[in-house]
Amino acid sequence: MISLLEELITSVTKLVGYDIDNMRVIKSNRPDLCDYQCDDVFRLAKLFHENPIVLGEKIVEALNNIENFDSYFKEVNFVKPGFINLVLSDEFINKNINNIINSESYGIEKNEVPETFVIDYGGPNVAKPLHVGHMRTAIVGESIKRIIEYKGNKVIGDVHLGDFGLQIGQVIYGILEENKSIDEIDIKFLDYIYPKMSGICKENEEIKEKCAAITKELQDGNEEYQKLWKKIMEVSVADIRNIYEYLDVHFDYWNGESDAYPYLEDTKKILEDKNLLVESEGAFVVNVTREDDKKELPPLVFQKSNGAYLYASTDLATILDRVNKFNPDHILYVVDNRQSLHFEQVFRTCEMSGLIDYEKLEFLGYGTVNGSDGKPYKTRSGETPKLQSLFDQAKEILINKEEMTKDLANEDIDKIVNAILKFADLQNSRERDYIFNISKFSEVIGKTGPYILYTYLRIKKILDGCLTDMSKLSNNIYNNYDRDLRIKLLDLPGAYLNAYNNRMPHYVADYLYDLCVLTNSFYQNNHINNEEDLVKKNDYLVILTITSNIIKSMLNLLVIDVPNEM
Ligand code: ARG
Repeated sequence: MISLLEELITSVTKLVGYDIDNMRVIKSNRPDLCDYQCDDVFRLAKLFHENPIVLGEKIVEALNNIENFDSYFKEVNFVKPGFINLVLSDEFINKNINNIINSESYGIEKNEVPETFVIDYGGPNVAKPLHVGHMRTAIVGESIKRIIEYKGNKVIGDVHLGDFGLQIGQVIYGILEENKSIDEIDIKFLDYIYPKMSGICKENEEIKEKCAAITKELQDGNEEYQKLWKKIMEVSVADIRNIYEYLDVHFDYWNGESDAYPYLEDTKKILEDKNLLVESEGAFVVNVTREDDKKELPPLVFQKSNGAYLYASTDLATILDRVNKFNPDHILYVVDNRQSLHFEQVFRTCEMSGLIDYEKLEFLGYGTVNGSDGKPYKTRSGETPKLQSLFDQAKEILINKEEMTKDLANEDIDKIVNAILKFADLQNSRERDYIFNISKFSEVIGKTGPYILYTYLRIKKILDGCLTDMSKLSNNIYNNYDRDLRIKLLDLPGAYLNAYNNRMPHYVADYLYDLCVLTNSFYQNNHINNEEDLVKKNDYLVILTITSNIIKSMLNLLVIDVPNEM
């Protein structure tokens, strides 16, 4: 719809003598005055060396004289010093509502040429318990995946397990030290041994070295270690899968760093052929600095002097594998902001070596989940809480809200828990930190998951049992509650595109919240079920039906499933 208005204003601007082909229209920032506005008068005035007031008035006059004015506008005004205010006509609004009704995805256009994306998210480390940070990458990643798919693209999700790092050597050391047989390795044992060994390694350099040596031998194929590693993988990955299952997060590939090992030699060869590998104190590194760097970027370490490969090497080899298998147009990484430097090193190395263009690689960093003290969220006893304990905590709070959850099926409660955690997370710009406050997140009033679910279920109840004829929307709009809601429905493509282009789910979350606020005022002020005017009643039901479909689809993009009741 915005592009329609833009086309119209652009052609009128041309008609009055200014040859320009992109007059932009935006949502009004004074909804009390108008629905949309065009702020391009200043730009135009500069370009054509004219007085903005003269120019703006000229365009507005021409707009007021277009032949089919009423089919677009109720009013078009010029406001000094240079704004064009647009108030839409009922006819225009309703025509566009009908377009949405007949569109498969509410006016959001599919890409004409679908692209292939690989999205790397989740990234849990095998044998270490998942914590709240892992929830962010899982939820944000899954949401971005769904948002990109919604436009008709092909998206391949890969969890990229940290399955071959130092923590594995530490756990193997612990198993051997405690004389455990392979059958005794279960999740309880892993939960006990990993923190223990990680603590020991922080204090004891000698043991730390030993663990590093075990890791290296494992990577080189030591059979005993491989056997233990496979068992650790089996136990830990089963646990990780359960957590993702609970969050409704699904990966196409369960590859890990270890799966990149077969491609390391080829990757090394590519770097060598381009003369990018430089020896530095026995190690092989790639210099990635650029002349215009403000801060010096340290070299990427590809191989240590003992021959061991590192995090950056497996990331490069994984890219080689992905390029060969999928020939992707984009590879996206949903990873903690604190890894931005690492990815800059990797991306630059890709560009220099010709592995893949720099522009095709996107680092989508996310912020930290903090406690009320502004520091990374910890339990009262100072530990990083396990993800499972957050689910349990949210569930407990919910069950205590008897008025909301009495008599609810367990399945529905789990869906509400998901909505609480996910909406709280996704309403923040992914790059920002946020403060974890589970009781605030679980309120039914406010910008929360339960509020959105409540609104959805409420209108579903109104719609249930009513016959709605979607093909019979009249040309009327009955009051401002009605009008505001209709216009909001038309704003969906803009909000969606912001989320899509920036890979930022919070645009969808914001939209959803605003839509729900307007929906609540709409049905509170219009008594739909008792409405005697049948045309009006059907109009309302049509509007509510679209609203409910949009809420459900947008919740789905936020990885939130609706419960049957609450
Ligand atoms: N396992 C890593 C970590 O916990 C995250 C992996 C991110 N993805 C990647 N391709 N490096 O820090």
